[in-house]
Amino acid sequence: MSKTFSIIKPDATKRNITGSINKLIEDAGLRIVAQKRIKMSKDLAENFYGVHKEKPFFNDLVDYMTSEPVVVQVLECENAVQVYRKVMGATDPKNADKGTIRKEYALNIQENSVHGSDSEDNAKIEIDFFFKDNEIVG
Ligand code: CMP
Repeated sequence: MSKTFSIIKPDATKRNITGSINKLIEDAGLRIVAQKRIKMSKDLAENFYGVHKEKPFFNDLVDYMTSEPVVVQVLECENAVQVYRKVMGATDPKNADKGTIRKEYALNIQENSVHGSDSEDNAKIEIDFFFKDNEIVG
């Protein structure tokens, strides 16, 4: 079993589709072993997305991620990182496969409904960023 980290983003919490997204996650065999709704501060969003600091979309991304609450999650299954990336679909919903979260629900490349870790190493870092061990119940 392995874990990945997920964020249900502001465009999705705002439209009340957290449950619809969780259904796609669970239907894919991923177990939601931790979940909480939070409002990201500017500091937290800037830290979390630190690798994108030099990108032209960085300021917009931080404004967007702090605009509404998000739901942060830990997901578990075999090969959780890869399984969740497949369920999410491509970053830009225009390129996402049918049936993926982003194809079904994302609005555009920024308001793309979900975030998922891109590697096992980053999953560990991102999970530690938001959750304590005793908050994760498998
Ligand atoms: P995420 O997987 O969370 O990683 C970085 C986020 O930046 C991405 O999803 C989008 O929400 C946002 N973003 C905005 N513009 C772009 C872009 N041109 N390329 C990649 N990500 C973008």
